[in-house]
Amino acid sequence: MRQKLVAGNWKMNGTASALTELGNLAYSCKSAKSEVLICPPSTLIYRASNVCVDSKVEIGAQDCHSATYGAHTGDLSAEMLHDAGATAVILGHSERRADHAETDKLVRAKATTAIAAGLTAIICVGETLVEREAGRTMDVVRAQLEGSLPDDSSGSKVVVAYEPVWAIGTGKVPTVEQIAEVHSGLRASLVKRFGGETAKAIRLLYGGSVKSSNAKEIFAVAEVDGALVGGASLKAADFAPIVSALDASA
Ligand code: PGA
Repeated sequence: MRQKLVAGNWKMNGTASALTELGNLAYSCKSAKSEVLICPPSTLIYRASNVCVDSKVEIGAQDCHSATYGAHTGDLSAEMLHDAGATAVILGHSERRADHAETDKLVRAKATTAIAAGLTAIICVGETLVEREAGRTMDVVRAQLEGSLPDDSSGSKVVVAYEPVWAIGTGKVPTVEQIAEVHSGLRASLVKRFGGETAKAIRLLYGGSVKSSNAKEIFAVAEVDGALVGGASLKAADFAPIVSALDASA
């Protein structure tokens, strides 16, 4: 059985005052059965991990460099993030693919470094609206999966998040049939590449406008092992019900 996971991505939101909200979330999730992860901006990782010590909430990062150290002004290595208290890192989010021209090859290199540093790599894939309307969704996500996952991926090292670009921050959500189609296609690709046992241990999250109002139906979809949540992860009152919905689906 794959352990369910709900991960919150705060993106470029939050200063020290947001730690109070995180404390509220840690309290709300004290009896959560699912794994709960919050990825605040890097500036908050150390303090956030202190706030969440002895709680069910783990802290993650939103990106890392592909190199282990060196002359990369302004960047952070996976080891630094791990040292600050992160246990996981989101990689290849569509906002990074778009804003920083990140390629599958770069995402794979980052994932390799992150895993070596002891972080779980949460690798994002997802089609744009133009790609969906052209009927290319499965080709796009399969190619991203193939290119972005390291060869030694396993359930303890890698989580895959399917995030249709057009659903992120828009309030638009694919139908449950569309989510089911992509998740079962991703699972089949994982089985083909890594073999059944390894593939079946890799968790597949759905992300894109997940809220407490739609979480239940999304979590009922086969092969959905949890969610990657942006906007609704910023407030404990919005995020905790999503965690409860995932617990109830288990
Ligand atoms: P959203 O973002 O929940 O605000 O749509 C999801 C994400 O970008 O991971």
